[in-house]
Amino acid sequence: MLLEVRDLHVEFKTRDGVAKAVNGVNYSVDAGETLAVLGESGSGKSVTAQAVMGILDMPPGRIAGGEILFQGKDLLGLKEDERRKIRGSEMAMIFQDALSSLNPVLSVGDQLSEMFTVHRGMSRKDGKAKAVELMDRVRIPAAKERVGQYPHQFSGGMRQRIMIAMAMALEPSLIIADEPTTALDVTVQAQVMDLLAELQRELNMGLILITHDLGVVADVADKIAVMYAGRIVEQAPVHEIYKKPAHPYTKGLLESIPRLDQKGQELYAIKGLPPNLMHIPPGCAFNPRCPMAQDVCRTDVPPLFDVAARRQSACFFWKETLDG
Ligand SMILES: Nc1ncnc2c1ncn2[C@@H]1O[C@H](COP(=O)(O)OP(=O)(O)OP(=O)(O)O)[C@@H](O)[C@H]1O
Ligand SMILES: [Mg+2]
Repeated sequence: MLLEVRDLHVEFKTRDGVAKAVNGVNYSVDAGETLAVLGESGSGKSVTAQAVMGILDMPPGRIAGGEILFQGKDLLGLKEDERRKIRGSEMAMIFQDALSSLNPVLSVGDQLSEMFTVHRGMSRKDGKAKAVELMDRVRIPAAKERVGQYPHQFSGGMRQRIMIAMAMALEPSLIIADEPTTALDVTVQAQVMDLLAELQRELNMGLILITHDLGVVADVADKIAVMYAGRIVEQAPVHEIYKKPAHPYTKGLLESIPRLDQKGQELYAIKGLPPNLMHIPPGCAFNPRCPMAQDVCRTDVPPLFDVAARRQSACFFWKETLDG
């Protein structure tokens, strides 16, 4: 297994108390595999990813428990310089906002070529050639002419392609893309997503794709992990989850996909709001919003039940949900 996150816990110390952002997350990604991580805002998707990348804001953040095994090695036991080495060449992250991730005063070509001069000891000339090659690869038209331009001279979609090029430069074995297309127009979103999926296949990388958008996921992901209040509530191969969710929260998310034939309808099928992470309700964190909640859901935390091979649900009533 390329990456295995085991029982990860992350907390943030705030003025008002301790926010439990990640509460026992387990997920894994293999080479060549795409794991989509879904869930409402604040469910801990990004914090989990930051912990994997080793870029968590500490303090106020703190890893309160768990393991992050990358190629069998626990990253949490490594020293910062070892961690940095892995982060540069073995795993990379793509963020939503390319403009704030790129350096505004360096040309795109210089930023790309730095990947090779700094990490691989290449000459400036060779680095520049590599930069053009990468820009071609992410299909930026007229790469040779544009290599000297600055980030603001590119459109949003092109900037996101440049981010993808940066992330892929050293051919990492794992890429984490955190809402990589959210800031883009719908048509551009699809192009950027297709490009990412294509490169992932070509390089046989593991990809963790964080998104709110169940629509995007169906085409590109192999499996899905649904997060709620810092836990995985359902995990399954992508097609199974679309056919029949085994958790009421997943069901609500699926019903909230906007449909073209139902314009003007209420988009969000789940009533209420996610819990305050300083006061997560006892029992199942989703129980106050769950149409199926029974007494046991208000007292006992549901473990992840095996629903099928490679499929789990943290719901006492997963059978009823599947049948419902
Ligand atoms: N630096 C920080 N300091 C304090 N709390 C933080 C910090 N970073 C994240 N959190 C808290 O951790 C929780 C989970 O945040 P996270 O960013 O992982 O959510 P998310 O699932 O990625 O949501 P979104 O879809 O909005 O990106 C949130 O309640 C957030 O307020
Ligand atoms: Mg996020």
